Parts: sequence; C-alpha cells; structure tokens
Amino acid sequence: MPESKPDLYRDLAKQLEALLAGESDRIANAANMAALIYHGLSDLNWAGFYFRQGGELVLGPFQGKPACVRIPLGKGVCGTAALRAATVLAPDVHNFPGHIACDPASRSELVVPLIEAGEVSGVLDLDSPLVGRFDEIDHAGCEQLVALFVEHHQRHSG
Ligand code: SME
Repeated sequence: MPESKPDLYRDLAKQLEALLAGESDRIANAANMAALIYHGLSDLNWAGFYFRQGGELVLGPFQGKPACVRIPLGKGVCGTAALRAATVLAPDVHNFPGHIACDPASRSELVVPLIEAGEVSGVLDLDSPLVGRFDEIDHAGCEQLVALFVEHHQRHSG
C-alpha cells in the first residue's frame, strides 16, 4: 500500500534530522535538504532555498533548473511569503499576481519562510508542474521540515 502523505512527511522529518545531525554548515545542510525534498516528494520541478540579504532574496542551494537569482521582498510568491513572514500556497501560479516565472513549466507553488529570532532569514520554495499539487498536509509538513532546519541552526550557532 502506498505510504500516506502524513507518513511520508514523518519519514522526511526523520531523514532530515539524520542529515542535519552533527553538521552546522547552513549551505551544506540546505543543499541536502533541497535534495531530500526534491527526490522525496512527487511531481516537483524545483525545490530549494532563497536567503535574505537586506531587501531581497538571493538564490541558495536548490534542485531543478537554473532559477532567478534575486527576488525583491514583496515580489512573486517567494517575496510575498518573505514579506508576510507566512507560508504562501499558490494553487495556480497563473492566478498569483506578480508571480515570477523562472520556469514556465511551474504551475503551483508552496513557499515557507525561515523565521529566525523574529526575522525572515530566507524561504524554502517548492514548485510543481501540476496545478493544485500542494495541500494543507504539504503546508504543515514543509513548515515542520523548515522548523527542524531553523531550530537545528539556532542550536548550532555560536
Ligand atoms: N516562482 C517564484 C520564483 C522562484 S522560482 O520559482 C524558483 C516566485 O514567484 O516567487
């Protein structure tokens, strides 16, 4: 029987904890997390990070095709999630005002902000070629994965 979606996210959380264990380098950990998600979830064409530098988001580790490097806060799905400091789920990016089409194949998108010490330090962005690919289970599951990443680096900073 295929694994249920909540079980899949529980497995991904366990695998992420194992990948993070003992390693404090954010770029290395973000790279492995992007690969874990890209290969662990179905129907994705992009999974990765943007990190905040002042008023913009700058491309970080990812899996998928080359992407836009800089996104101003408030622009596109990523910039909107960063500005609001809240997860944004775009079921059909064609209906999302200001969506940035890095890859025209992307049709739905889920963006989870990384919030560290009350500040948005970046976002995790997942793209799918399917309209409506992401639901509330993906929303909650990806927020939990991001929380593991953020808490891990809070424990291992300075
Ligand atoms: N589509 C995103 C830009 C990032 S790429 O999809 C990788 C957006 O509208 O923010």
